[in-house]
Amino acid sequence: MTVEQAKSIVKPLLSEKRWTHTKNVKKMAVKLARRWGCDGEKAAVSAILHDSAKELPKEQLLQIFADNAIIALDAPKRPTPVWHGIAAAILAQTRWGVQDEEILSAIRCHTTGKPDMSLLDKILYLADMTSAERDWPGVEELRSLQMQDLDAALCLALKRSIDFVNDKGGTLDPESVAAYEYAEQHKRPPTSKQGG
Ligand SMILES: [Fe+2]
Ligand SMILES: [Fe+2]
Repeated sequence: MTVEQAKSIVKPLLSEKRWTHTKNVKKMAVKLARRWGCDGEKAAVSAILHDSAKELPKEQLLQIFADNAIIALDAPKRPTPVWHGIAAAILAQTRWGVQDEEILSAIRCHTTGKPDMSLLDKILYLADMTSAERDWPGVEELRSLQMQDLDAALCLALKRSIDFVNDKGGTLDPESVAAYEYAEQHKRPPTSKQGG
């Protein structure tokens, strides 16, 4: 699927506000892809598709899971804010002909992350949190960190999402915690000035 094809599918599914967010996520994803040596076209297509199911009613998301139970796995049991990414990946695969596993994975895990994220998974996750219209406290710090150290930025972003859910009294998806623990264990240790 080309970026233009993705746009023509997704734009009619979203409000103006969410379409603006989507275009901003695409811009940030392409910037990160360039910085970290990822395929820019894949980053752009993933970004355009990531929130394509965000405005579908709950019943319709559940229907998508029921119709595709083999790929939906335990989706209905996970917290509802996670559903739209899983549903978007299912729609991309089954209705829109996206076969690229990397793109499907990035869309699917864009809300929670997951353990052992690919470069594209990380880029979409971070782009979604740092797109131009985002203004949460600390977003500027994350925008600059993600251009210096992608894994440190990922840890910070995952931690921030977990705190955000907890502060709101929401239900934490165990996948978020697993993603954060994995990322913390695998980030580059701080460089020692003494060398050796
Ligand atoms: Fe989303
Ligand atoms: Fe988003």
